[in-house]
Parts: sequence; structure tokens; C-alpha cells
Amino acid sequence: MFGGGRSADGSDGGLNRRTFLSGVVVVGAAVGLTGVAEGAVAAEPALAAPPAPPTGPPTTTIPLPTTTAPEQLWLTWGNDPATDVTVSWLSPGTVPMPAPTLTWSARPLSARNPGRSVQLPAPRPLDVTQRYPQASSVAFTDGLNAQTTYYYHVELRDLEPGTTYYYQVSDGATPAPSTTGASFTTAPAGRAKFRFSSYGDLATPSYDMNASGNQWHESCDNAYYAVSAIENPGDGHGAPLFHLLNGDLCYANLDIFNAPGVWRDFGVNVSRSAKNRPWMPALGNHETEFGTCDHAGRPGTAPGGIEAQGAAGNYWNGPYGYGHYLSRFLLPDNDVTNWDGNRLRGNFYAFQVGTVKFISLDADDVIYQDGASAYLNSAPNAANEVTSSGASIPNGTVTYNHGYTGDLKIVAANNSAVPDFSTGTPNLQCIWLERTLREAREDPSVDMIVVFMHQCAMSTSVPGNGSDLGIRRAWLPLFDKYEVDLVLSGHEHDYERSYPVRGHDAGQLGTVVSPNPDQTAGETVDTRRPHVATTTPVNLNGQQAWDTEQGTVFLVLGGGGTDGPSNVYGVDSATGLPKAKVITERNAISGSEATGFTRNAADSVEDAPWSAAINAGDAYGYAIFDVDPGQHRGDTTITFKYFAIPAVSDETGPLHTGTTTLPTTPFETFVFGRGISRQQHLKHDHGKKEVSARTA
Ligand SMILES: [Fe+2]
Ligand SMILES: [Fe+2]
Repeated sequence: MFGGGRSADGSDGGLNRRTFLSGVVVVGAAVGLTGVAEGAVAAEPALAAPPAPPTGPPTTTIPLPTTTAPEQLWLTWGNDPATDVTVSWLSPGTVPMPAPTLTWSARPLSARNPGRSVQLPAPRPLDVTQRYPQASSVAFTDGLNAQTTYYYHVELRDLEPGTTYYYQVSDGATPAPSTTGASFTTAPAGRAKFRFSSYGDLATPSYDMNASGNQWHESCDNAYYAVSAIENPGDGHGAPLFHLLNGDLCYANLDIFNAPGVWRDFGVNVSRSAKNRPWMPALGNHETEFGTCDHAGRPGTAPGGIEAQGAAGNYWNGPYGYGHYLSRFLLPDNDVTNWDGNRLRGNFYAFQVGTVKFISLDADDVIYQDGASAYLNSAPNAANEVTSSGASIPNGTVTYNHGYTGDLKIVAANNSAVPDFSTGTPNLQCIWLERTLREAREDPSVDMIVVFMHQCAMSTSVPGNGSDLGIRRAWLPLFDKYEVDLVLSGHEHDYERSYPVRGHDAGQLGTVVSPNPDQTAGETVDTRRPHVATTTPVNLNGQQAWDTEQGTVFLVLGGGGTDGPSNVYGVDSATGLPKAKVITERNAISGSEATGFTRNAADSVEDAPWSAAINAGDAYGYAIFDVDPGQHRGDTTITFKYFAIPAVSDETGPLHTGTTTLPTTPFETFVFGRGISRQQHLKHDHGKKEVSARTA
């Protein structure tokens, strides 16, 4: 289809899901799962006698292995992807490796080529107030189940660009060390072609396809096939140089007795790809975990009650609840130290490959919706949630990281949010973002800017969370000012693409439909609706293309593999046009311990002319991006292909029907480039041959 209309695949995706979730989720039932129905599904006839599936997620703490053979190998870029790659790996469980070692070489490792080695120091507890050495071992103790897991990191620097390296990691056990390894390729130097990929909301495979054999709250076999797809994309043109993982990595916060076990199954699954190429994560709401720390990550004073609707008091798992995430990844350093003394390395960061600057943001800092660790029970006098470590979490406890890097203030003139210097603690992530964007646009080696984060500025999903005004206020003005080309997110477990947008439709108001206590149903509300720059694609050499100099294109890519698809999209029944939920302030949490607690959904709706494409047929899928720098500054184009992945329909049986053969034809293909509409006119005016490529 060559046209601007919102496209929807009407095919039946057969979103049959299991029924494990019903009535089980207590902690963590907040944002990510709201309203996603777990339909009762009749079991398909079994062809063989498969092992009986678990009846549901474990309700006790399952011991982790006590072996030390290295696993979960995971690569990330260092500060300069052309020369710096960080190798991370783990022990399977609660026993540290005796003498963890990394060996690497630009030639295959062998007896004749032993490579270079680095032995890691003894593990030290996660401490983000400190800079980490180039080789480090990190221990993190989960607050809710007291299991300590170990993470090993080596930052390889001064590598050669565009070069393949071979590496092995060893536990150093005597007399028989366990060793495993793989190879990777550094990013090319200068203007070069490369491929990257993206999705969020991956979760874990289900019991018979994950390492532990357990079934977790969001386990789904699509999580397995989504990783396979990155190693072998459907177009047959090979695996990407690296992958962007847009938050909600594994939903460990939903399994309060076994978060380290969930992270392990996730790590083992992703490692099938991440040991071969960097996987760069962004923080999502499900990386916010309950624990026994205060907000800054220091030991809290739990157990003890907290004020209802508070920000979880002392029930955080490490700094801001991100302890597992910050232990697992040693990401490019933003050199920002938070007001509480924590270094914010990895919370948000940037790197450049070829002519593209990539920026990973933590939207938890600016969104209005709350975090995904929440104990909200509507029953009166509900008992505290007591975990195997002895943590006792009272009903009404909710994580909320809004403003955790500093304060924001609303500017009424354009309904934006900016760092509030008057408090003495302005929002550091926003300050860093503006500086990073400004420097990128001033840098002659950067043509295009790709931002990836978790939550959505724009989504029309009905069972999902909706669009968040917090992102629109804090970041869309910056995306406009510095002409960010693409913004990738997850959070909604589906696919959606916007038209290029620039600025907002002042005076086009939304309507409050689910009022918080300070709102009235039916009143208007300024949702800062993004302004559509164009609905007409450019024909670029026969391919449909969007000029991202005219506006930023937002892609929701949340179909990694969770068990909660959300690809039902809002439509105004009177007009047939897209409609979106919008969260315009923090979701109210009502009640008391005596009466029980409930949480309000998205409060408002708006007409959504910005919604250009959805996929009602398949929730799952992955995006492939091929970057071509062209010949000169500003020539870069990115060819985008979105491939759907059918939902597995026989997860509890032996077949895993639906994804054993992944689609080879993209659901959508577009080219993104800057100034291409202008160039087209110029070329047309001069009658050059390129113009006549108006075929296709
Ligand atoms: Fe999610
Ligand atoms: Fe999410």
C-alpha cells in the first residue's frame, strides 16, 4: 500500500493465551498488565503426552544452581562502539566463580593462540556511588528472597573498528575449569552501512523452553522465537550489528519469590543472541522492583507500614528498584551523578554507530503513570505481602520514580516541563538529554538521531497503558528542537507507527473519562496532542519514505514476547478515526488498608490523527533497520522493516504452533531520511534521472 492511511492487518492472529495469571498477580499488577484480559482458552487436543505444565508460577523461592559454569554471556557497547565492547556474564546461581577470567583475540582462540586474558577481582556488592574498574565482579542480594547473584564485566577498549574478536570466559574452577565463548564484531568506523534491530517487552520463554523449567508470570514462548528472529531475520539478509531492547526486559518484579531466577531464565534465552552482538537495554517500569532498600538503594528500615499511595518508602530493590538491572549491565557512562550521590551510569546513555546517534532514556523519570511494583489489593484489611526474605509489604505500596533525577516544572505557555532550577535539584536526565541532543546536532559526523525508551508518548492501545503526557511535556519539545528522527518504545505489547510529528495542536483538547479525585468526567484537558507534520510519504527511488526533518516518527515496538498482548486499538465509534487514552497526571490510588486499594486507569482520551499504522492481527514482532550513510553529510537513510511474529498457540503442548517458521515478508517497509522531500523536489525541478524512480 502506498498511501498515508492508518493500516491495519485484519487477519486473525489467534491470540490464544493460557490462564495461569488469573487471580495470582498481587504484587506488580499495576501498569504493564492493566486490563489485559487473560481469556479462558479451551485446551487443544494433545498429540502426544507432554510433561504436565506447571499449574502456575512458583509461590515459594526455588533454589538456584550452585554450579559455577559461566552462562548468560551478554555483550554491550562501551562508550565508542567502534573500539569498546563490554563482555558480561554470570554464574547460574548463588555461588561466585572461583577465578573468573576473560580471554580474547582477533584470531580464533586455540592452544597456539591463547589470546589475552584478564582475571577479575573478587565480587563486591553493587555500589553505584563508585566508578567501576575496567574488570569488575558485582554481587547483588535480592531484597525479597535474599538470594545473592554474581555478575562479571570486562570493558574491552582500544579494539579495532569493524573487526571480529573471539572470546572465552571461564569460572577458573580447579582442577577442571568450565569455559564457554563466542565472537563479536566491533562497529565500523566513520560513514558505514550497518543493521540494527529493536523491540521491548521480551519476558521469558515458558517452562519447557527456559533454563529452569519454571513458568513465570509473563512467560511466553514468543520470547524464545523473538530472540531467534534477531539471529536470523526474516528477510534473509543476516543478523544485525546490535539490538535495542526497549525496556520491560523480563518482568522479574512480578515473581517476588524468584526475581533472580526469572532474570536467569531471561539471560539464558537472550544470550543465544547477546553473546554474538551487543544488546542495548533501556529501563522500563518492570525493571522497578520491590526490595528492602530505601529509594537511593541503601538498606531500608523495613518491615514497617508506609503511608498509602506513598512512593514505596523503603521497599526498593537497590537504587530506585533497579538493583538487578544495574548489576547485570555495565553500560556507557553518562558521567552524571544524582542528587542522592548515586552515579547514574546506565540509567540513560548515548552512543554513536556510523552516522547515527543512539540515546537510551529512562522514561520512569518523567512519566505520570506509576511503576510496576505495586501491592494493591481491593480486599479490606488485606494481609501484608510477606516474602521469603521476611520483607513485609503493606497493601497500598506503589513504586513511583517520577522525578528521581531531579525536579521538573510546568511551563504554562506551551504546556511543557523543564528542569526546575528553583529547587536547587533540577532534573538531571533532562539536562543531560538536551546537552546530548545539542551536541549531536552540532556534530558533523551525526546525521540522524534515534531515541529508544520504554513508555509511550503516543499509543492508541485499548488494553494497554495509553499515551503519557509526562513524556510529551518533558521530552517532545526537545525532540522537536533538535529534530530527533526516530523514537522507539515498548510498554504496549503491540505495534504502532506515528506519522512524522512536530510541535503540538494547541487548542485541540482531550476529555477526562476516568477522573482522578481532582478531575471531573467530561471536562476538557490539554493533552499536548502531537501535531502531524505530514500524512504523505515521499517516493524515494521507488520506496515509500518519510522525511524525518519534517517530523519525528514514533514507533511502538513492544511485541517482544510477553504473555499479555495489547494489540486492540482505540477507534472513535462515531467517526471511525483513531482515539487514544492519555495519562495526564499520576493515576490516583484510592482507599485505605481498612477498605482495600484500587488504582485509576488512564484518565483521559484524545482524537489521535497521529496514529499512522497498527497491527491488529499480530501483537508480536521485531523491527529491522538498515542504515545507509550515502555519500555526503546529511545523506543517511534508514530502511525500516517490521516483521510480525504469530502468537504461539500450543505453548502447553509439544508443538509451539505458530512460530516454528517465522514470516519472511515484512508487515511494513519504509525509508526514513532527512530532507528527502526537499531533495525530491530539487531533483524533480532539475529533471534528473533519480526522480523518475516513481515506480513501485
Ligand atoms: Fe511490558
Ligand atoms: Fe511496561
